[in-house]
Amino acid sequence: MKTIFSGIQPSGTITLGNYIGALKQFVELQDEYNCYFCIVDEHALTVAQDRLELRKNIRSLAALYIAVGIDPNKATLFIQSEVPAHAQAGWMMQCVAYMGELERMTQFKDKSSGKEAVLAGLLTYPPLMAADILLYKTDLVPVGEDQKQHLELTRDLAERFNKKYNDIFIIPEVRIPTVGARVMSLQEPTKKMSKSDPNKKAFISLLDDPKTIEKKIKSAVTDSSGIIKYDKENKPGITNLLSIYSILGGKSIAEIEALYDGKGYGDFKAGLTEVVINALKPIQDRYHELLDSTELDEILDKGAEKANAEANKMLKKMENAMGLGRKR
Ligand code: AQP
Repeated sequence: MKTIFSGIQPSGTITLGNYIGALKQFVELQDEYNCYFCIVDEHALTVAQDRLELRKNIRSLAALYIAVGIDPNKATLFIQSEVPAHAQAGWMMQCVAYMGELERMTQFKDKSSGKEAVLAGLLTYPPLMAADILLYKTDLVPVGEDQKQHLELTRDLAERFNKKYNDIFIIPEVRIPTVGARVMSLQEPTKKMSKSDPNKKAFISLLDDPKTIEKKIKSAVTDSSGIIKYDKENKPGITNLLSIYSILGGKSIAEIEALYDGKGYGDFKAGLTEVVINALKPIQDRYHELLDSTELDEILDKGAEKANAEANKMLKKMENAMGLGRKR
């Protein structure tokens, strides 16, 4: 079986973007691959976090992974900071990466732009991400489109390490969904939906209640033409809503356009609200069952044990290749 690794930051409650771009693919892939799914809490530290909020978000994200359908008997679910090899290998990969290539990353430019003080970790996030992936001999990384550039860097760093030290890493491939790779903000449909967007109306979180979902969809930015048609260039707002409807409602874009032919945005938004609420209801029910259960801790303990065993094997290979410590 080939291996998959992917992670999500506990930097807020995950959004429809994270779900459609990442989690939904994870569920579809878990039968065919040996999967490692990680709550990348160390990555979340690259921007300011409240300590208690972070702890809450870690647990909440773990419960959501299971609630959307990740089966812990098939996939290994674990928390990054509970596997110290990630931080250790992350440092080694920092010593393979160049400043220039890290400064060119769009996510670094976006998140640091206009800020007076930028944490060094924001710059060195991609080598840690490379370590996360490479530790598990990963063949495939399912992510949303925004992570494509980081994946390309991971491949470059792995190739550089293999050439410079020893040929120990598998060069991973990226897997981006054909539809929903980039779910856009409800308020600025030319910008991606992000869980840490300060404008809460910009995203729908997986835990939003029906009233909140209704309000957010009602206030989603559209255009003045009043026609429900997929047109990325000229109608980014409606196009984004159509994509969400299509993925969560299981209908093609053409079917939805036909369904709302001659109707207004009000009807379309009401229909979309129903689709989103119905899609999230079973996830939210399962989430609440899991959140305070011992089952969740048992899953995470088992996951950490398995991930530690696997990651430590590669960590030793990396140390030997680089000449760290004593030969073991
Ligand atoms: N808008 C999106 N559309 C499709 N996929 C998305 N992903 C994120 N936003 C969208 C995918 O979700 C996975 C987890 O992402 P992450 O939490 O590791 O970091 P991120 O990409 O920076 O996600 P956010 O929501 O924007 O987080 P913050 O606000 O903390 O920066 C990845 O596979 C990502 O591609």
